Amino acid sequence: MEQFFVRGGVPLRGEIRVGGSKNASLAILPACLLVRGKTRLLNVPDIQDTHTMAAVLRHTGAHVQFVGPETVEVDATHFQRAEAPEELVRRMRASFYVLGPMLARLGTARVAQPGGCDIGARPVDFHIRGLQALGADLRSEGGIVTGHTRGLRGGEIYFDFPSAGATTHVMTAAAMADGITTIGNAAMEPEVVDVANFLNGVGARIRGAGTPTVVIEGVSELATDTEYSVIPDRMEAGTHACAAAITQGTVVLQNVIANHLQPVLVKLQEMGVQVTPLSADGDHPISIRIAAPERTQCADILAMPHPGFPTDMQQPLVALLTVSRGVALVTDRVFENRFRYVTELCHMGADIQVSGRTAVVRGVDHLSGATVTATDLRAGAALVVAALAAQGETAILGVEHVDRGYSKLAEKLQRVGARIQRMDPESPARYLRAV
Ligand code: UD1
Repeated sequence: MEQFFVRGGVPLRGEIRVGGSKNASLAILPACLLVRGKTRLLNVPDIQDTHTMAAVLRHTGAHVQFVGPETVEVDATHFQRAEAPEELVRRMRASFYVLGPMLARLGTARVAQPGGCDIGARPVDFHIRGLQALGADLRSEGGIVTGHTRGLRGGEIYFDFPSAGATTHVMTAAAMADGITTIGNAAMEPEVVDVANFLNGVGARIRGAGTPTVVIEGVSELATDTEYSVIPDRMEAGTHACAAAITQGTVVLQNVIANHLQPVLVKLQEMGVQVTPLSADGDHPISIRIAAPERTQCADILAMPHPGFPTDMQQPLVALLTVSRGVALVTDRVFENRFRYVTELCHMGADIQVSGRTAVVRGVDHLSGATVTATDLRAGAALVVAALAAQGETAILGVEHVDRGYSKLAEKLQRVGARIQRMDPESPARYLRAV
């Protein structure tokens, strides 16, 4: 198992190009199964999760090829196998999103109950109820969901909670259902809007994505040979912003959509970070300078569905809070168990107490290098951010979690001055000489 070795204390300076959105890609790739032909996607991040999704799609008979940097071609002409490999679905929750396209195009499906990051119970009941409302006959037995339909039809759906995954999944299935579907209490995340834009680009009729009510008028066929560029990854951008801030550096983030980052940027500004939009595409900044001339101050965080503060940014922000002045209350209203990683931050000297869904973070003067373990994707990101500011060396185990969602994280950070190296644990001494 590889590790990151980090020698902290260098202010980051330079430019970082942010890659395409993981979460949007993981919803758009299965949506390509609806198209009886080729689709070309640009700005798809080269990460473990997109490769896992490609493997799931190939298993169904689709042809999937990474044809260039961040460019993927999907040809779903021969999509005919209504089954997803259990091992892949258990590894990555988003693999479950093939269920809807299978029902829509093949009328049958067999998909395992999903796994993914261990951040609390993550049921799929909204997905199942949503697809049932479209007329699918779904059963869950022995950890396997099987489904049949003689043709999906439009339906009325209202989610108990605005689930990002369930909204994109049901919206995708409804794109080719017979009639009109209405999704109430829909998630409003930018990734949901991106999936709707992709689907509309191939001929679907979806209105209201990005609002609590999404209306889908089903169509019988979607266009082939189209090209679509996925939005930039706001979580990757936010992680680099936290890395810049914790090292009191100055970093220009390229390929971002500032509006998508607003909840994070506003919070960073509250903490004393300078945020300056640089170039723009029309009204939309596409590069932003993040500068932290001095130690940041604590601010409370409440992670909520969009447009609230994103739960995926909770961990990197907590890493920054650990060395900020003052005390902060951090509450996560999205997942019930997203604070496991704080034990690792405490190994580095952080002062954090967790009670239920809330953490109290008391800023300390400095963190100290230690050997720590990433327990999930964003936990790994938080440990990298913390290690960049810690005194001494930090070894981060569990790098495979980071690889699920960040492309070339160490290389990107090295280019802005960070002393971070991916190493084989068998030969750490070689690394320590190298940095
Ligand atoms: C997606 C993102 C993840 C992000 C999360 C919240 C992907 C691949 N992952 O995950 O990075 O942290 O949105 O923004 O896009 N829930 C149910 N039943 C369901 C579905 C969800 O109870 O059927 C609950 C979950 O347990 C959680 C809440 O709803 O408490 C929100 O989860 P959801 O928005 O669905 O997260 P994901 O789509 O899994």
